[in-house]
Amino acid sequence: MKTAVIILAAGKGTRMKSEKAKVLHEIGGKPILYYVLDASRRLEADKTIVVVGHQSDTVKEVFSGKGLVFVEQKEQLGTGHAVMQAEKALKGFKGNILILSGDVPLITLETLKGLMDHHSKEKATLTVLTAEPENPYGYGRIIKDAGGNIKKIVEEKDASAVERKVREINTGIYCVASEFMFKALKGIKPKNAQKEYYLTDIVRIAVKNKKKAATYKTADFKEAMGINSRLELAEAELIQRTRTLGELMKNGVTIIDPACTYISPSVRISADTIVFPGSMISGQTAIGKGTIIGPGCVISDAKIGDDVNIKAYSVIDKSEIEDGAFIGPMAHVRPESVIKKGAHIGNFVEVKKSKIGIGSKANHLSYIGDATIGKGVNIGAGTITCNYDGVKKHQTMIEDNVFVGSDTQLVAPVRIGKGSLIGAGTTVTEDVPEGSLVLSRVRQLTKEGLAKKYLRRKG
Ligand code: UD1
Ligand code: CA
Repeated sequence: MKTAVIILAAGKGTRMKSEKAKVLHEIGGKPILYYVLDASRRLEADKTIVVVGHQSDTVKEVFSGKGLVFVEQKEQLGTGHAVMQAEKALKGFKGNILILSGDVPLITLETLKGLMDHHSKEKATLTVLTAEPENPYGYGRIIKDAGGNIKKIVEEKDASAVERKVREINTGIYCVASEFMFKALKGIKPKNAQKEYYLTDIVRIAVKNKKKAATYKTADFKEAMGINSRLELAEAELIQRTRTLGELMKNGVTIIDPACTYISPSVRISADTIVFPGSMISGQTAIGKGTIIGPGCVISDAKIGDDVNIKAYSVIDKSEIEDGAFIGPMAHVRPESVIKKGAHIGNFVEVKKSKIGIGSKANHLSYIGDATIGKGVNIGAGTITCNYDGVKKHQTMIEDNVFVGSDTQLVAPVRIGKGSLIGAGTTVTEDVPEGSLVLSRVRQLTKEGLAKKYLRRKG
């Protein structure tokens, strides 16, 4: 049996009170739609259709190149209307259609598989994934007959007082036979409190036409939680974070305080690495074993090796840190930098688009931009690569074993030859041949005893 997935993601999410489409709001550093797409991808469906509407261009752009078919719902006239938009894209398709909500991101692959297995086992035309939260407020309720079979779904706004007491809710996830679905959708009318075409009405239509409608209940309501408000966004964030951190800890990563550590599900970390509180790690970051991170580090899209020590409050973005390097405290490694094995980048050092060679050190208060630094180089405190002339960026090359004294400016483009020694306070404007000593400061003037006289004059 073939499977197609339709993901509903056209709504504005009025209750979010946001300019941004709801499915682009993030939990765990990823848009909520990312999680639904990920579950759907792992199902290996034959076709995945995403119904977009509100801010469709942005949504399409964020998720482009993922083998998805996007269909547009120009006006958001309800969930039933949204599914109708997928009819053309599924022309000729025969099989089961799994309908997912773009705003139900915590759903697991296991539950979706359970739903589909149940659907086949029951030989159902339509199966609704249900859940039983403590507080069902806001959700559509599952109304059953005396025999325990589903009769219909009523929305909170349309429900009677008795119906509102029902705790079993509609998760907004369904498995439906394709030949029934599009026919049934033609029969729904926007006759309800919200004047919308409700997808949920297909249950009533199935029952009326004596088609088998079934329900499959998740054990864990949290999985089916819909995000409609900022409060629910924060609740989902916590659940997602607990899952991601739990997985990492299971694999041997120490997280000192999971309550204030933020790691995206796309991040990979090896065993015996320790993450201290307040750290945020996101994007396609991979971290080796025995590394120490934090507290308070912000790391995104970085490749970090084994036994690295990233000390407090350092920021690393789109860069590579090799084995045994030391970073921080309070260092800033900006995109396209490579910090080679055993190198040190110390406090208040900013590195941008630069390569720092094996064992080289820039330990204090420096700016290193557009530079290539060889092995065993020492960059003294306060050294600055003057890489920008107001129009263009220029390169600085520092060859192996150079010693750069403190408070030096390297006016790029400039090259410092191997083993050279740059005196403190020098402004280097010309290339330096290998093994040179370079000084560019005025000679010191010392007048003995003059201090007292000077101070007296000042009163
Ligand atoms: C829906 C269900 C409700 C269920 C709940 C579960 C209906 C009528 N109600 O209610 O029974 O308990 O989900 O979370 O289906 N969407 C579109 N186009 C539209 C309208 C919505 O694409 O015209 C998308 C939204 O972007 C969202 C999803 O469909 O991803 C659900 O829509 P939403 O408005 O949040 O429905 P609920 O009121 O939560
Ligand atoms: Ca919803």
